[in-house]
Amino acid sequence: MGLSLSPLRRRHVLFGLILIFLPCTVFILISTPDMTGEEALVERLAELQLRLQHLDAMYRAREEDVQVLSHHLSQLLSDSGNLTSLSAEARYLLNNTSGRLLRLPSAYHFLPHLLLSPSSLRPALALSKGRTGVSTILGVPTVKREVQSYLLSTVRNLIESMNKSEQDDTVIVVLIAETEEEYVYSVVNDIKIHFEYELNSGLVEVIAPPASYYPEMARLRTTLGDSPERVRWRTKQNLDFAFLMMYAQPKGMFYVQLEDDILAKPHFVTTMKTVALERITNKKPWFVLDFCQLGFIGKMFRCVELPWLIQFFFMFYNDKPVDWLLDHLIHTKSCSLDKDTKHCKKAKEELWIHYKPSLFQHIGTHSSLKGKVQKLKDKQFGKVRLFVPHANPDAIVESEIKCYKQHTLKRAYLGETFFWGLVPTPGDRLTFSFSRPLYIKRYVFRSGNVEHPSDRFYNTTVEVLPSVSPTANYESFNYTSDGFVIIGKFDNMGLADGPVDRKLGPIKELRLVVHSESDNWAILSEILIEPDVKR
Ligand SMILES: *[C@@H]1O[C@H](CO)[C@@H](O)[C@H](O)[C@H]1NC(C)=O
Ligand SMILES: *[C@@H]1O[C@H](CO)[C@@H](O)[C@H](O)[C@H]1NC(C)=O
Ligand SMILES: *[C@@H]1O[C@H](CO)[C@@H](O)[C@H](O)[C@H]1NC(C)=O
Ligand SMILES: *[C@@H]1O[C@H](CO)[C@@H](O)[C@H](O)[C@H]1NC(C)=O
Ligand SMILES: *[C@@H]1O[C@H](CO)[C@@H](O)[C@H](O)[C@H]1NC(C)=O
Ligand SMILES: *[C@@H]1O[C@H](CO)[C@@H](O)[C@H](O)[C@H]1NC(C)=O
Repeated sequence: MGLSLSPLRRRHVLFGLILIFLPCTVFILISTPDMTGEEALVERLAELQLRLQHLDAMYRAREEDVQVLSHHLSQLLSDSGNLTSLSAEARYLLNNTSGRLLRLPSAYHFLPHLLLSPSSLRPALALSKGRTGVSTILGVPTVKREVQSYLLSTVRNLIESMNKSEQDDTVIVVLIAETEEEYVYSVVNDIKIHFEYELNSGLVEVIAPPASYYPEMARLRTTLGDSPERVRWRTKQNLDFAFLMMYAQPKGMFYVQLEDDILAKPHFVTTMKTVALERITNKKPWFVLDFCQLGFIGKMFRCVELPWLIQFFFMFYNDKPVDWLLDHLIHTKSCSLDKDTKHCKKAKEELWIHYKPSLFQHIGTHSSLKGKVQKLKDKQFGKVRLFVPHANPDAIVESEIKCYKQHTLKRAYLGETFFWGLVPTPGDRLTFSFSRPLYIKRYVFRSGNVEHPSDRFYNTTVEVLPSVSPTANYESFNYTSDGFVIIGKFDNMGLADGPVDRKLGPIKELRLVVHSESDNWAILSEILIEPDVKR
């Protein structure tokens, strides 16, 4: 079937489809009354134009497949010397291509080890519902960190920064760029637990590369005078990004490169898409739309242009860090050796568009390169809310965890700041003794904040002391030896939140009790004790 339709004919079919497709769409747009007129129409056309480019790229990929196949086939046939058994059309096709083609260099030239294993370009693992045709693909590579992983809070924040329609038009691809099976499965497990809904809906996908994708990392050339460790780190990052981009490329219109330790602004996908479509509509050129000043975070590309980057990364993966390669690529595309650096800078800025204010911020303080503490923050991101204040009932508050600077528990309870405690130890308690016993409807304790998401309470229970000693009826509650009832605990995302059973009666005291050692400090960014005013 593939061979019986010549490329020429298939192109005609494609054009035919487009001719039918375009006028219909235009007609529908014009006849829809609530469109804001010409602008929306023009933007929609830009979108269609992009989808057309996407189809064209897919078509080219198929054509390439046909070329490769016919090359193999004709090789086989010329070996057996018999073309007459084929249809006239197939004969024509083969006769026209065989023997005359020069061989295009391919990625295998730069990564010959990929030929050693037939599955080296197939993800070793892929959780995917196969969602395609979306506007935006968000690529989130993650690697094992010595200190603390921010992956789950990053993905959660990305999802929460989108509304329903934005979520339906996006795919988040998490690349677990590790080959140690046990580690990969532990991350996959965490993601399954926390994002079951999003995995099922197709919004979140998880992939991991096979070990055979990477060359022998111990035998890399050391370049730029960097230490072998640093060379390995940046080389792997180039290959990781290329893998992720290859996977993402056929899925949508725009690709955005992110990292696993970032924070995003609400509606960032719509903002990015609007900026991109506006440039396309106004026929202004661009290669990168840059929504963050840091490294490779928040860089947006057209999916159809990703092959430029992928190929470039494959050529120079051992030579330069990934953000330099992007810079070099743009440099090559835009600068003239005859002109000065000022001219070059200006020319580059026409393809690499910086958008302010930034849509992304780093939250991690530890880089995944061991020992390199990364404190780079994007100054263009603006202020973020570090705590949520509430008016709480009168109480005496006490903390056995020493606080940092002015971040006392008392001020946090009053809604003036967040509580920031130095490393909690088992047995540490935070207590809230109410001036008057009260019925409590609900409590919320949110630990960590956007700048320090890992400063959470781990393995910490929420306990209350009823003002009247419980009677035998209430055996179903879990009591501590000193008469408190355990009503909840902090979850993996650092949140403790729930109702207080009315059967417990008025509550005299509420406390948080820490049960484990922690590597981190602990923040309470939200404290809410909501009295039950029904009586
Ligand atoms: C080539 O194929 C045709 C048709 O299958 C057959 O009749 C013919 O004998 C074959 N010739 C050779 C040289 O194998
Ligand atoms: C292949 O094409 C050449 C002309 O380019 C023609 O002379 C020859 O007969 C063709 N062979 C077959 C098997 O169609
Ligand atoms: C080979 O195919 C191309 C189009 O794909 C056509 O333009 C050319 O004339 C063909 N050559 C021969 C020798 O048939
Ligand atoms: C989601 O947000 C975008 C951008 O603010 C808006 O255009 C769209 O209507 C919103 N969709 C829903 C379902 O709220
Ligand atoms: C009491 O603790 C046990 C074990 O931790 C738990 O399974 C059970 O749900 C708890 N009961 C109540 C009423 O919280
Ligand atoms: C929580 O702390 C208790 C007491 O130290 C310990 O037995 C338990 O394993 C800890 N649980 C977790 C999840 O760390």
